[in-house]
Amino acid sequence: MPSNLNVAVVGATGVVGQELLKILAARGFEPERVRALASEASAGRRVAYDGADLELQAAGERAFVGIDIAFFAAGGEAALALAPVAVEAGALVVDKSSAWRMQENVPLVVPEVNGDDIRDSEGIIACPNCSTIPVAMVIDSLRREAGVERVVVATYQSASGGGRDLLEELEEQTREVAAGRRPHARVYSHPLAYNVVPGGWKLESDGYNEEELKLAQESRKILHDPELRLVATCVRVPVPVGHGEALFVETTRPLGPERARELLAAAPGIEVVDDGRGAEFPTPADAAGRDEVLVGRIRRDPSVDNGLALWLVADNLRKGAALNAVQIAERAIEMGVV
Ligand SMILES: NC(=O)c1ccc[n+]([C@@H]2O[C@H](COP(=O)([O-])OP(=O)(O)OC[C@H]3O[C@@H](n4cnc5c(N)ncnc54)[C@H](OP(=O)(O)O)[C@@H]3O)[C@@H](O)[C@H]2O)c1
Repeated sequence: MPSNLNVAVVGATGVVGQELLKILAARGFEPERVRALASEASAGRRVAYDGADLELQAAGERAFVGIDIAFFAAGGEAALALAPVAVEAGALVVDKSSAWRMQENVPLVVPEVNGDDIRDSEGIIACPNCSTIPVAMVIDSLRREAGVERVVVATYQSASGGGRDLLEELEEQTREVAAGRRPHARVYSHPLAYNVVPGGWKLESDGYNEEELKLAQESRKILHDPELRLVATCVRVPVPVGHGEALFVETTRPLGPERARELLAAAPGIEVVDDGRGAEFPTPADAAGRDEVLVGRIRRDPSVDNGLALWLVADNLRKGAALNAVQIAERAIEMGVV
């Protein structure tokens, strides 16, 4: 990304915003080119940036003047209220929240899969959910050769996926349990330390929650496959960073594990960590801080005709959020959209 652009990070104090600042610093953006925005409560405080610090400003009506690209990592409410303000001020908005994702005139983009959709942007580009991005990348790399009929996903999602407050809550609860006390849930629906929670997201219809429906709906939009059959069970695990996902993929044509390994290894942004015997596999700790989606445990699923079982992990703050957003911006620049 040309580092002579002016960029804003809305939500600069949050876990995704902090990762965005790290990536912008690594891309060579001078502090003068980066505007750190947060809620009014944070205005005047400072956030670290590349060995220096930036003064936080409140994200309001005047905050986007002179900004070329505005990265939003501040939740749906702020995105709904302020993304149009940023567009009006002349910025391209890349939003991490779910507020705009399913709007017809808003591309929902994983650059490795549907980067060309950026061309349809009217000013706002949405970044998919952290558990959707790696699933879309894996499905896309397999379906190009074998087609995909049906996908079953079980997620193992880290605490940082729920933001700064849940990450802090996990740390507090871990200390409480270590001290022999009952952990207290304040932010999440259930205690997460020393536990596994198959829920905690907003409930939707038929016993599914918002996260599970997002995975299916967003995958269909990104893959341009409105008929894609995908069902998910989303689970929160007591891991700080890195989402794991078990995937069962039914392909249209036969696809053996060896060929699947080759296809995945050749796919951009994916690294295969799999010795073919099941002894070597990637864990969330391996993915934390990494840019790639790591895939392993690639096996034949003998319960269906053309079935593959596999496991993936990805850093939910990087490829699941901040990195994907920066890659969208970079692609938009290449395409002349900014
Ligand atoms: N965490 C993940 O793995 C992940 C992955 C994909 C997508 N996302 C999405 O990314 C967004 C940020 O998530 P997060 O996990 O980074 O959350 P977080 O750690 O809770 O941080 C939220 C950030 O939003 C700011 N904010 C809140 N209300 C605001 C307002 N009205 N105006 C401006 N800033 C406001 C907060 O600022 P203050 O400090 O001033 O309160 C803080 O900087 C959410 O939409 C989330 O769904 C997160």
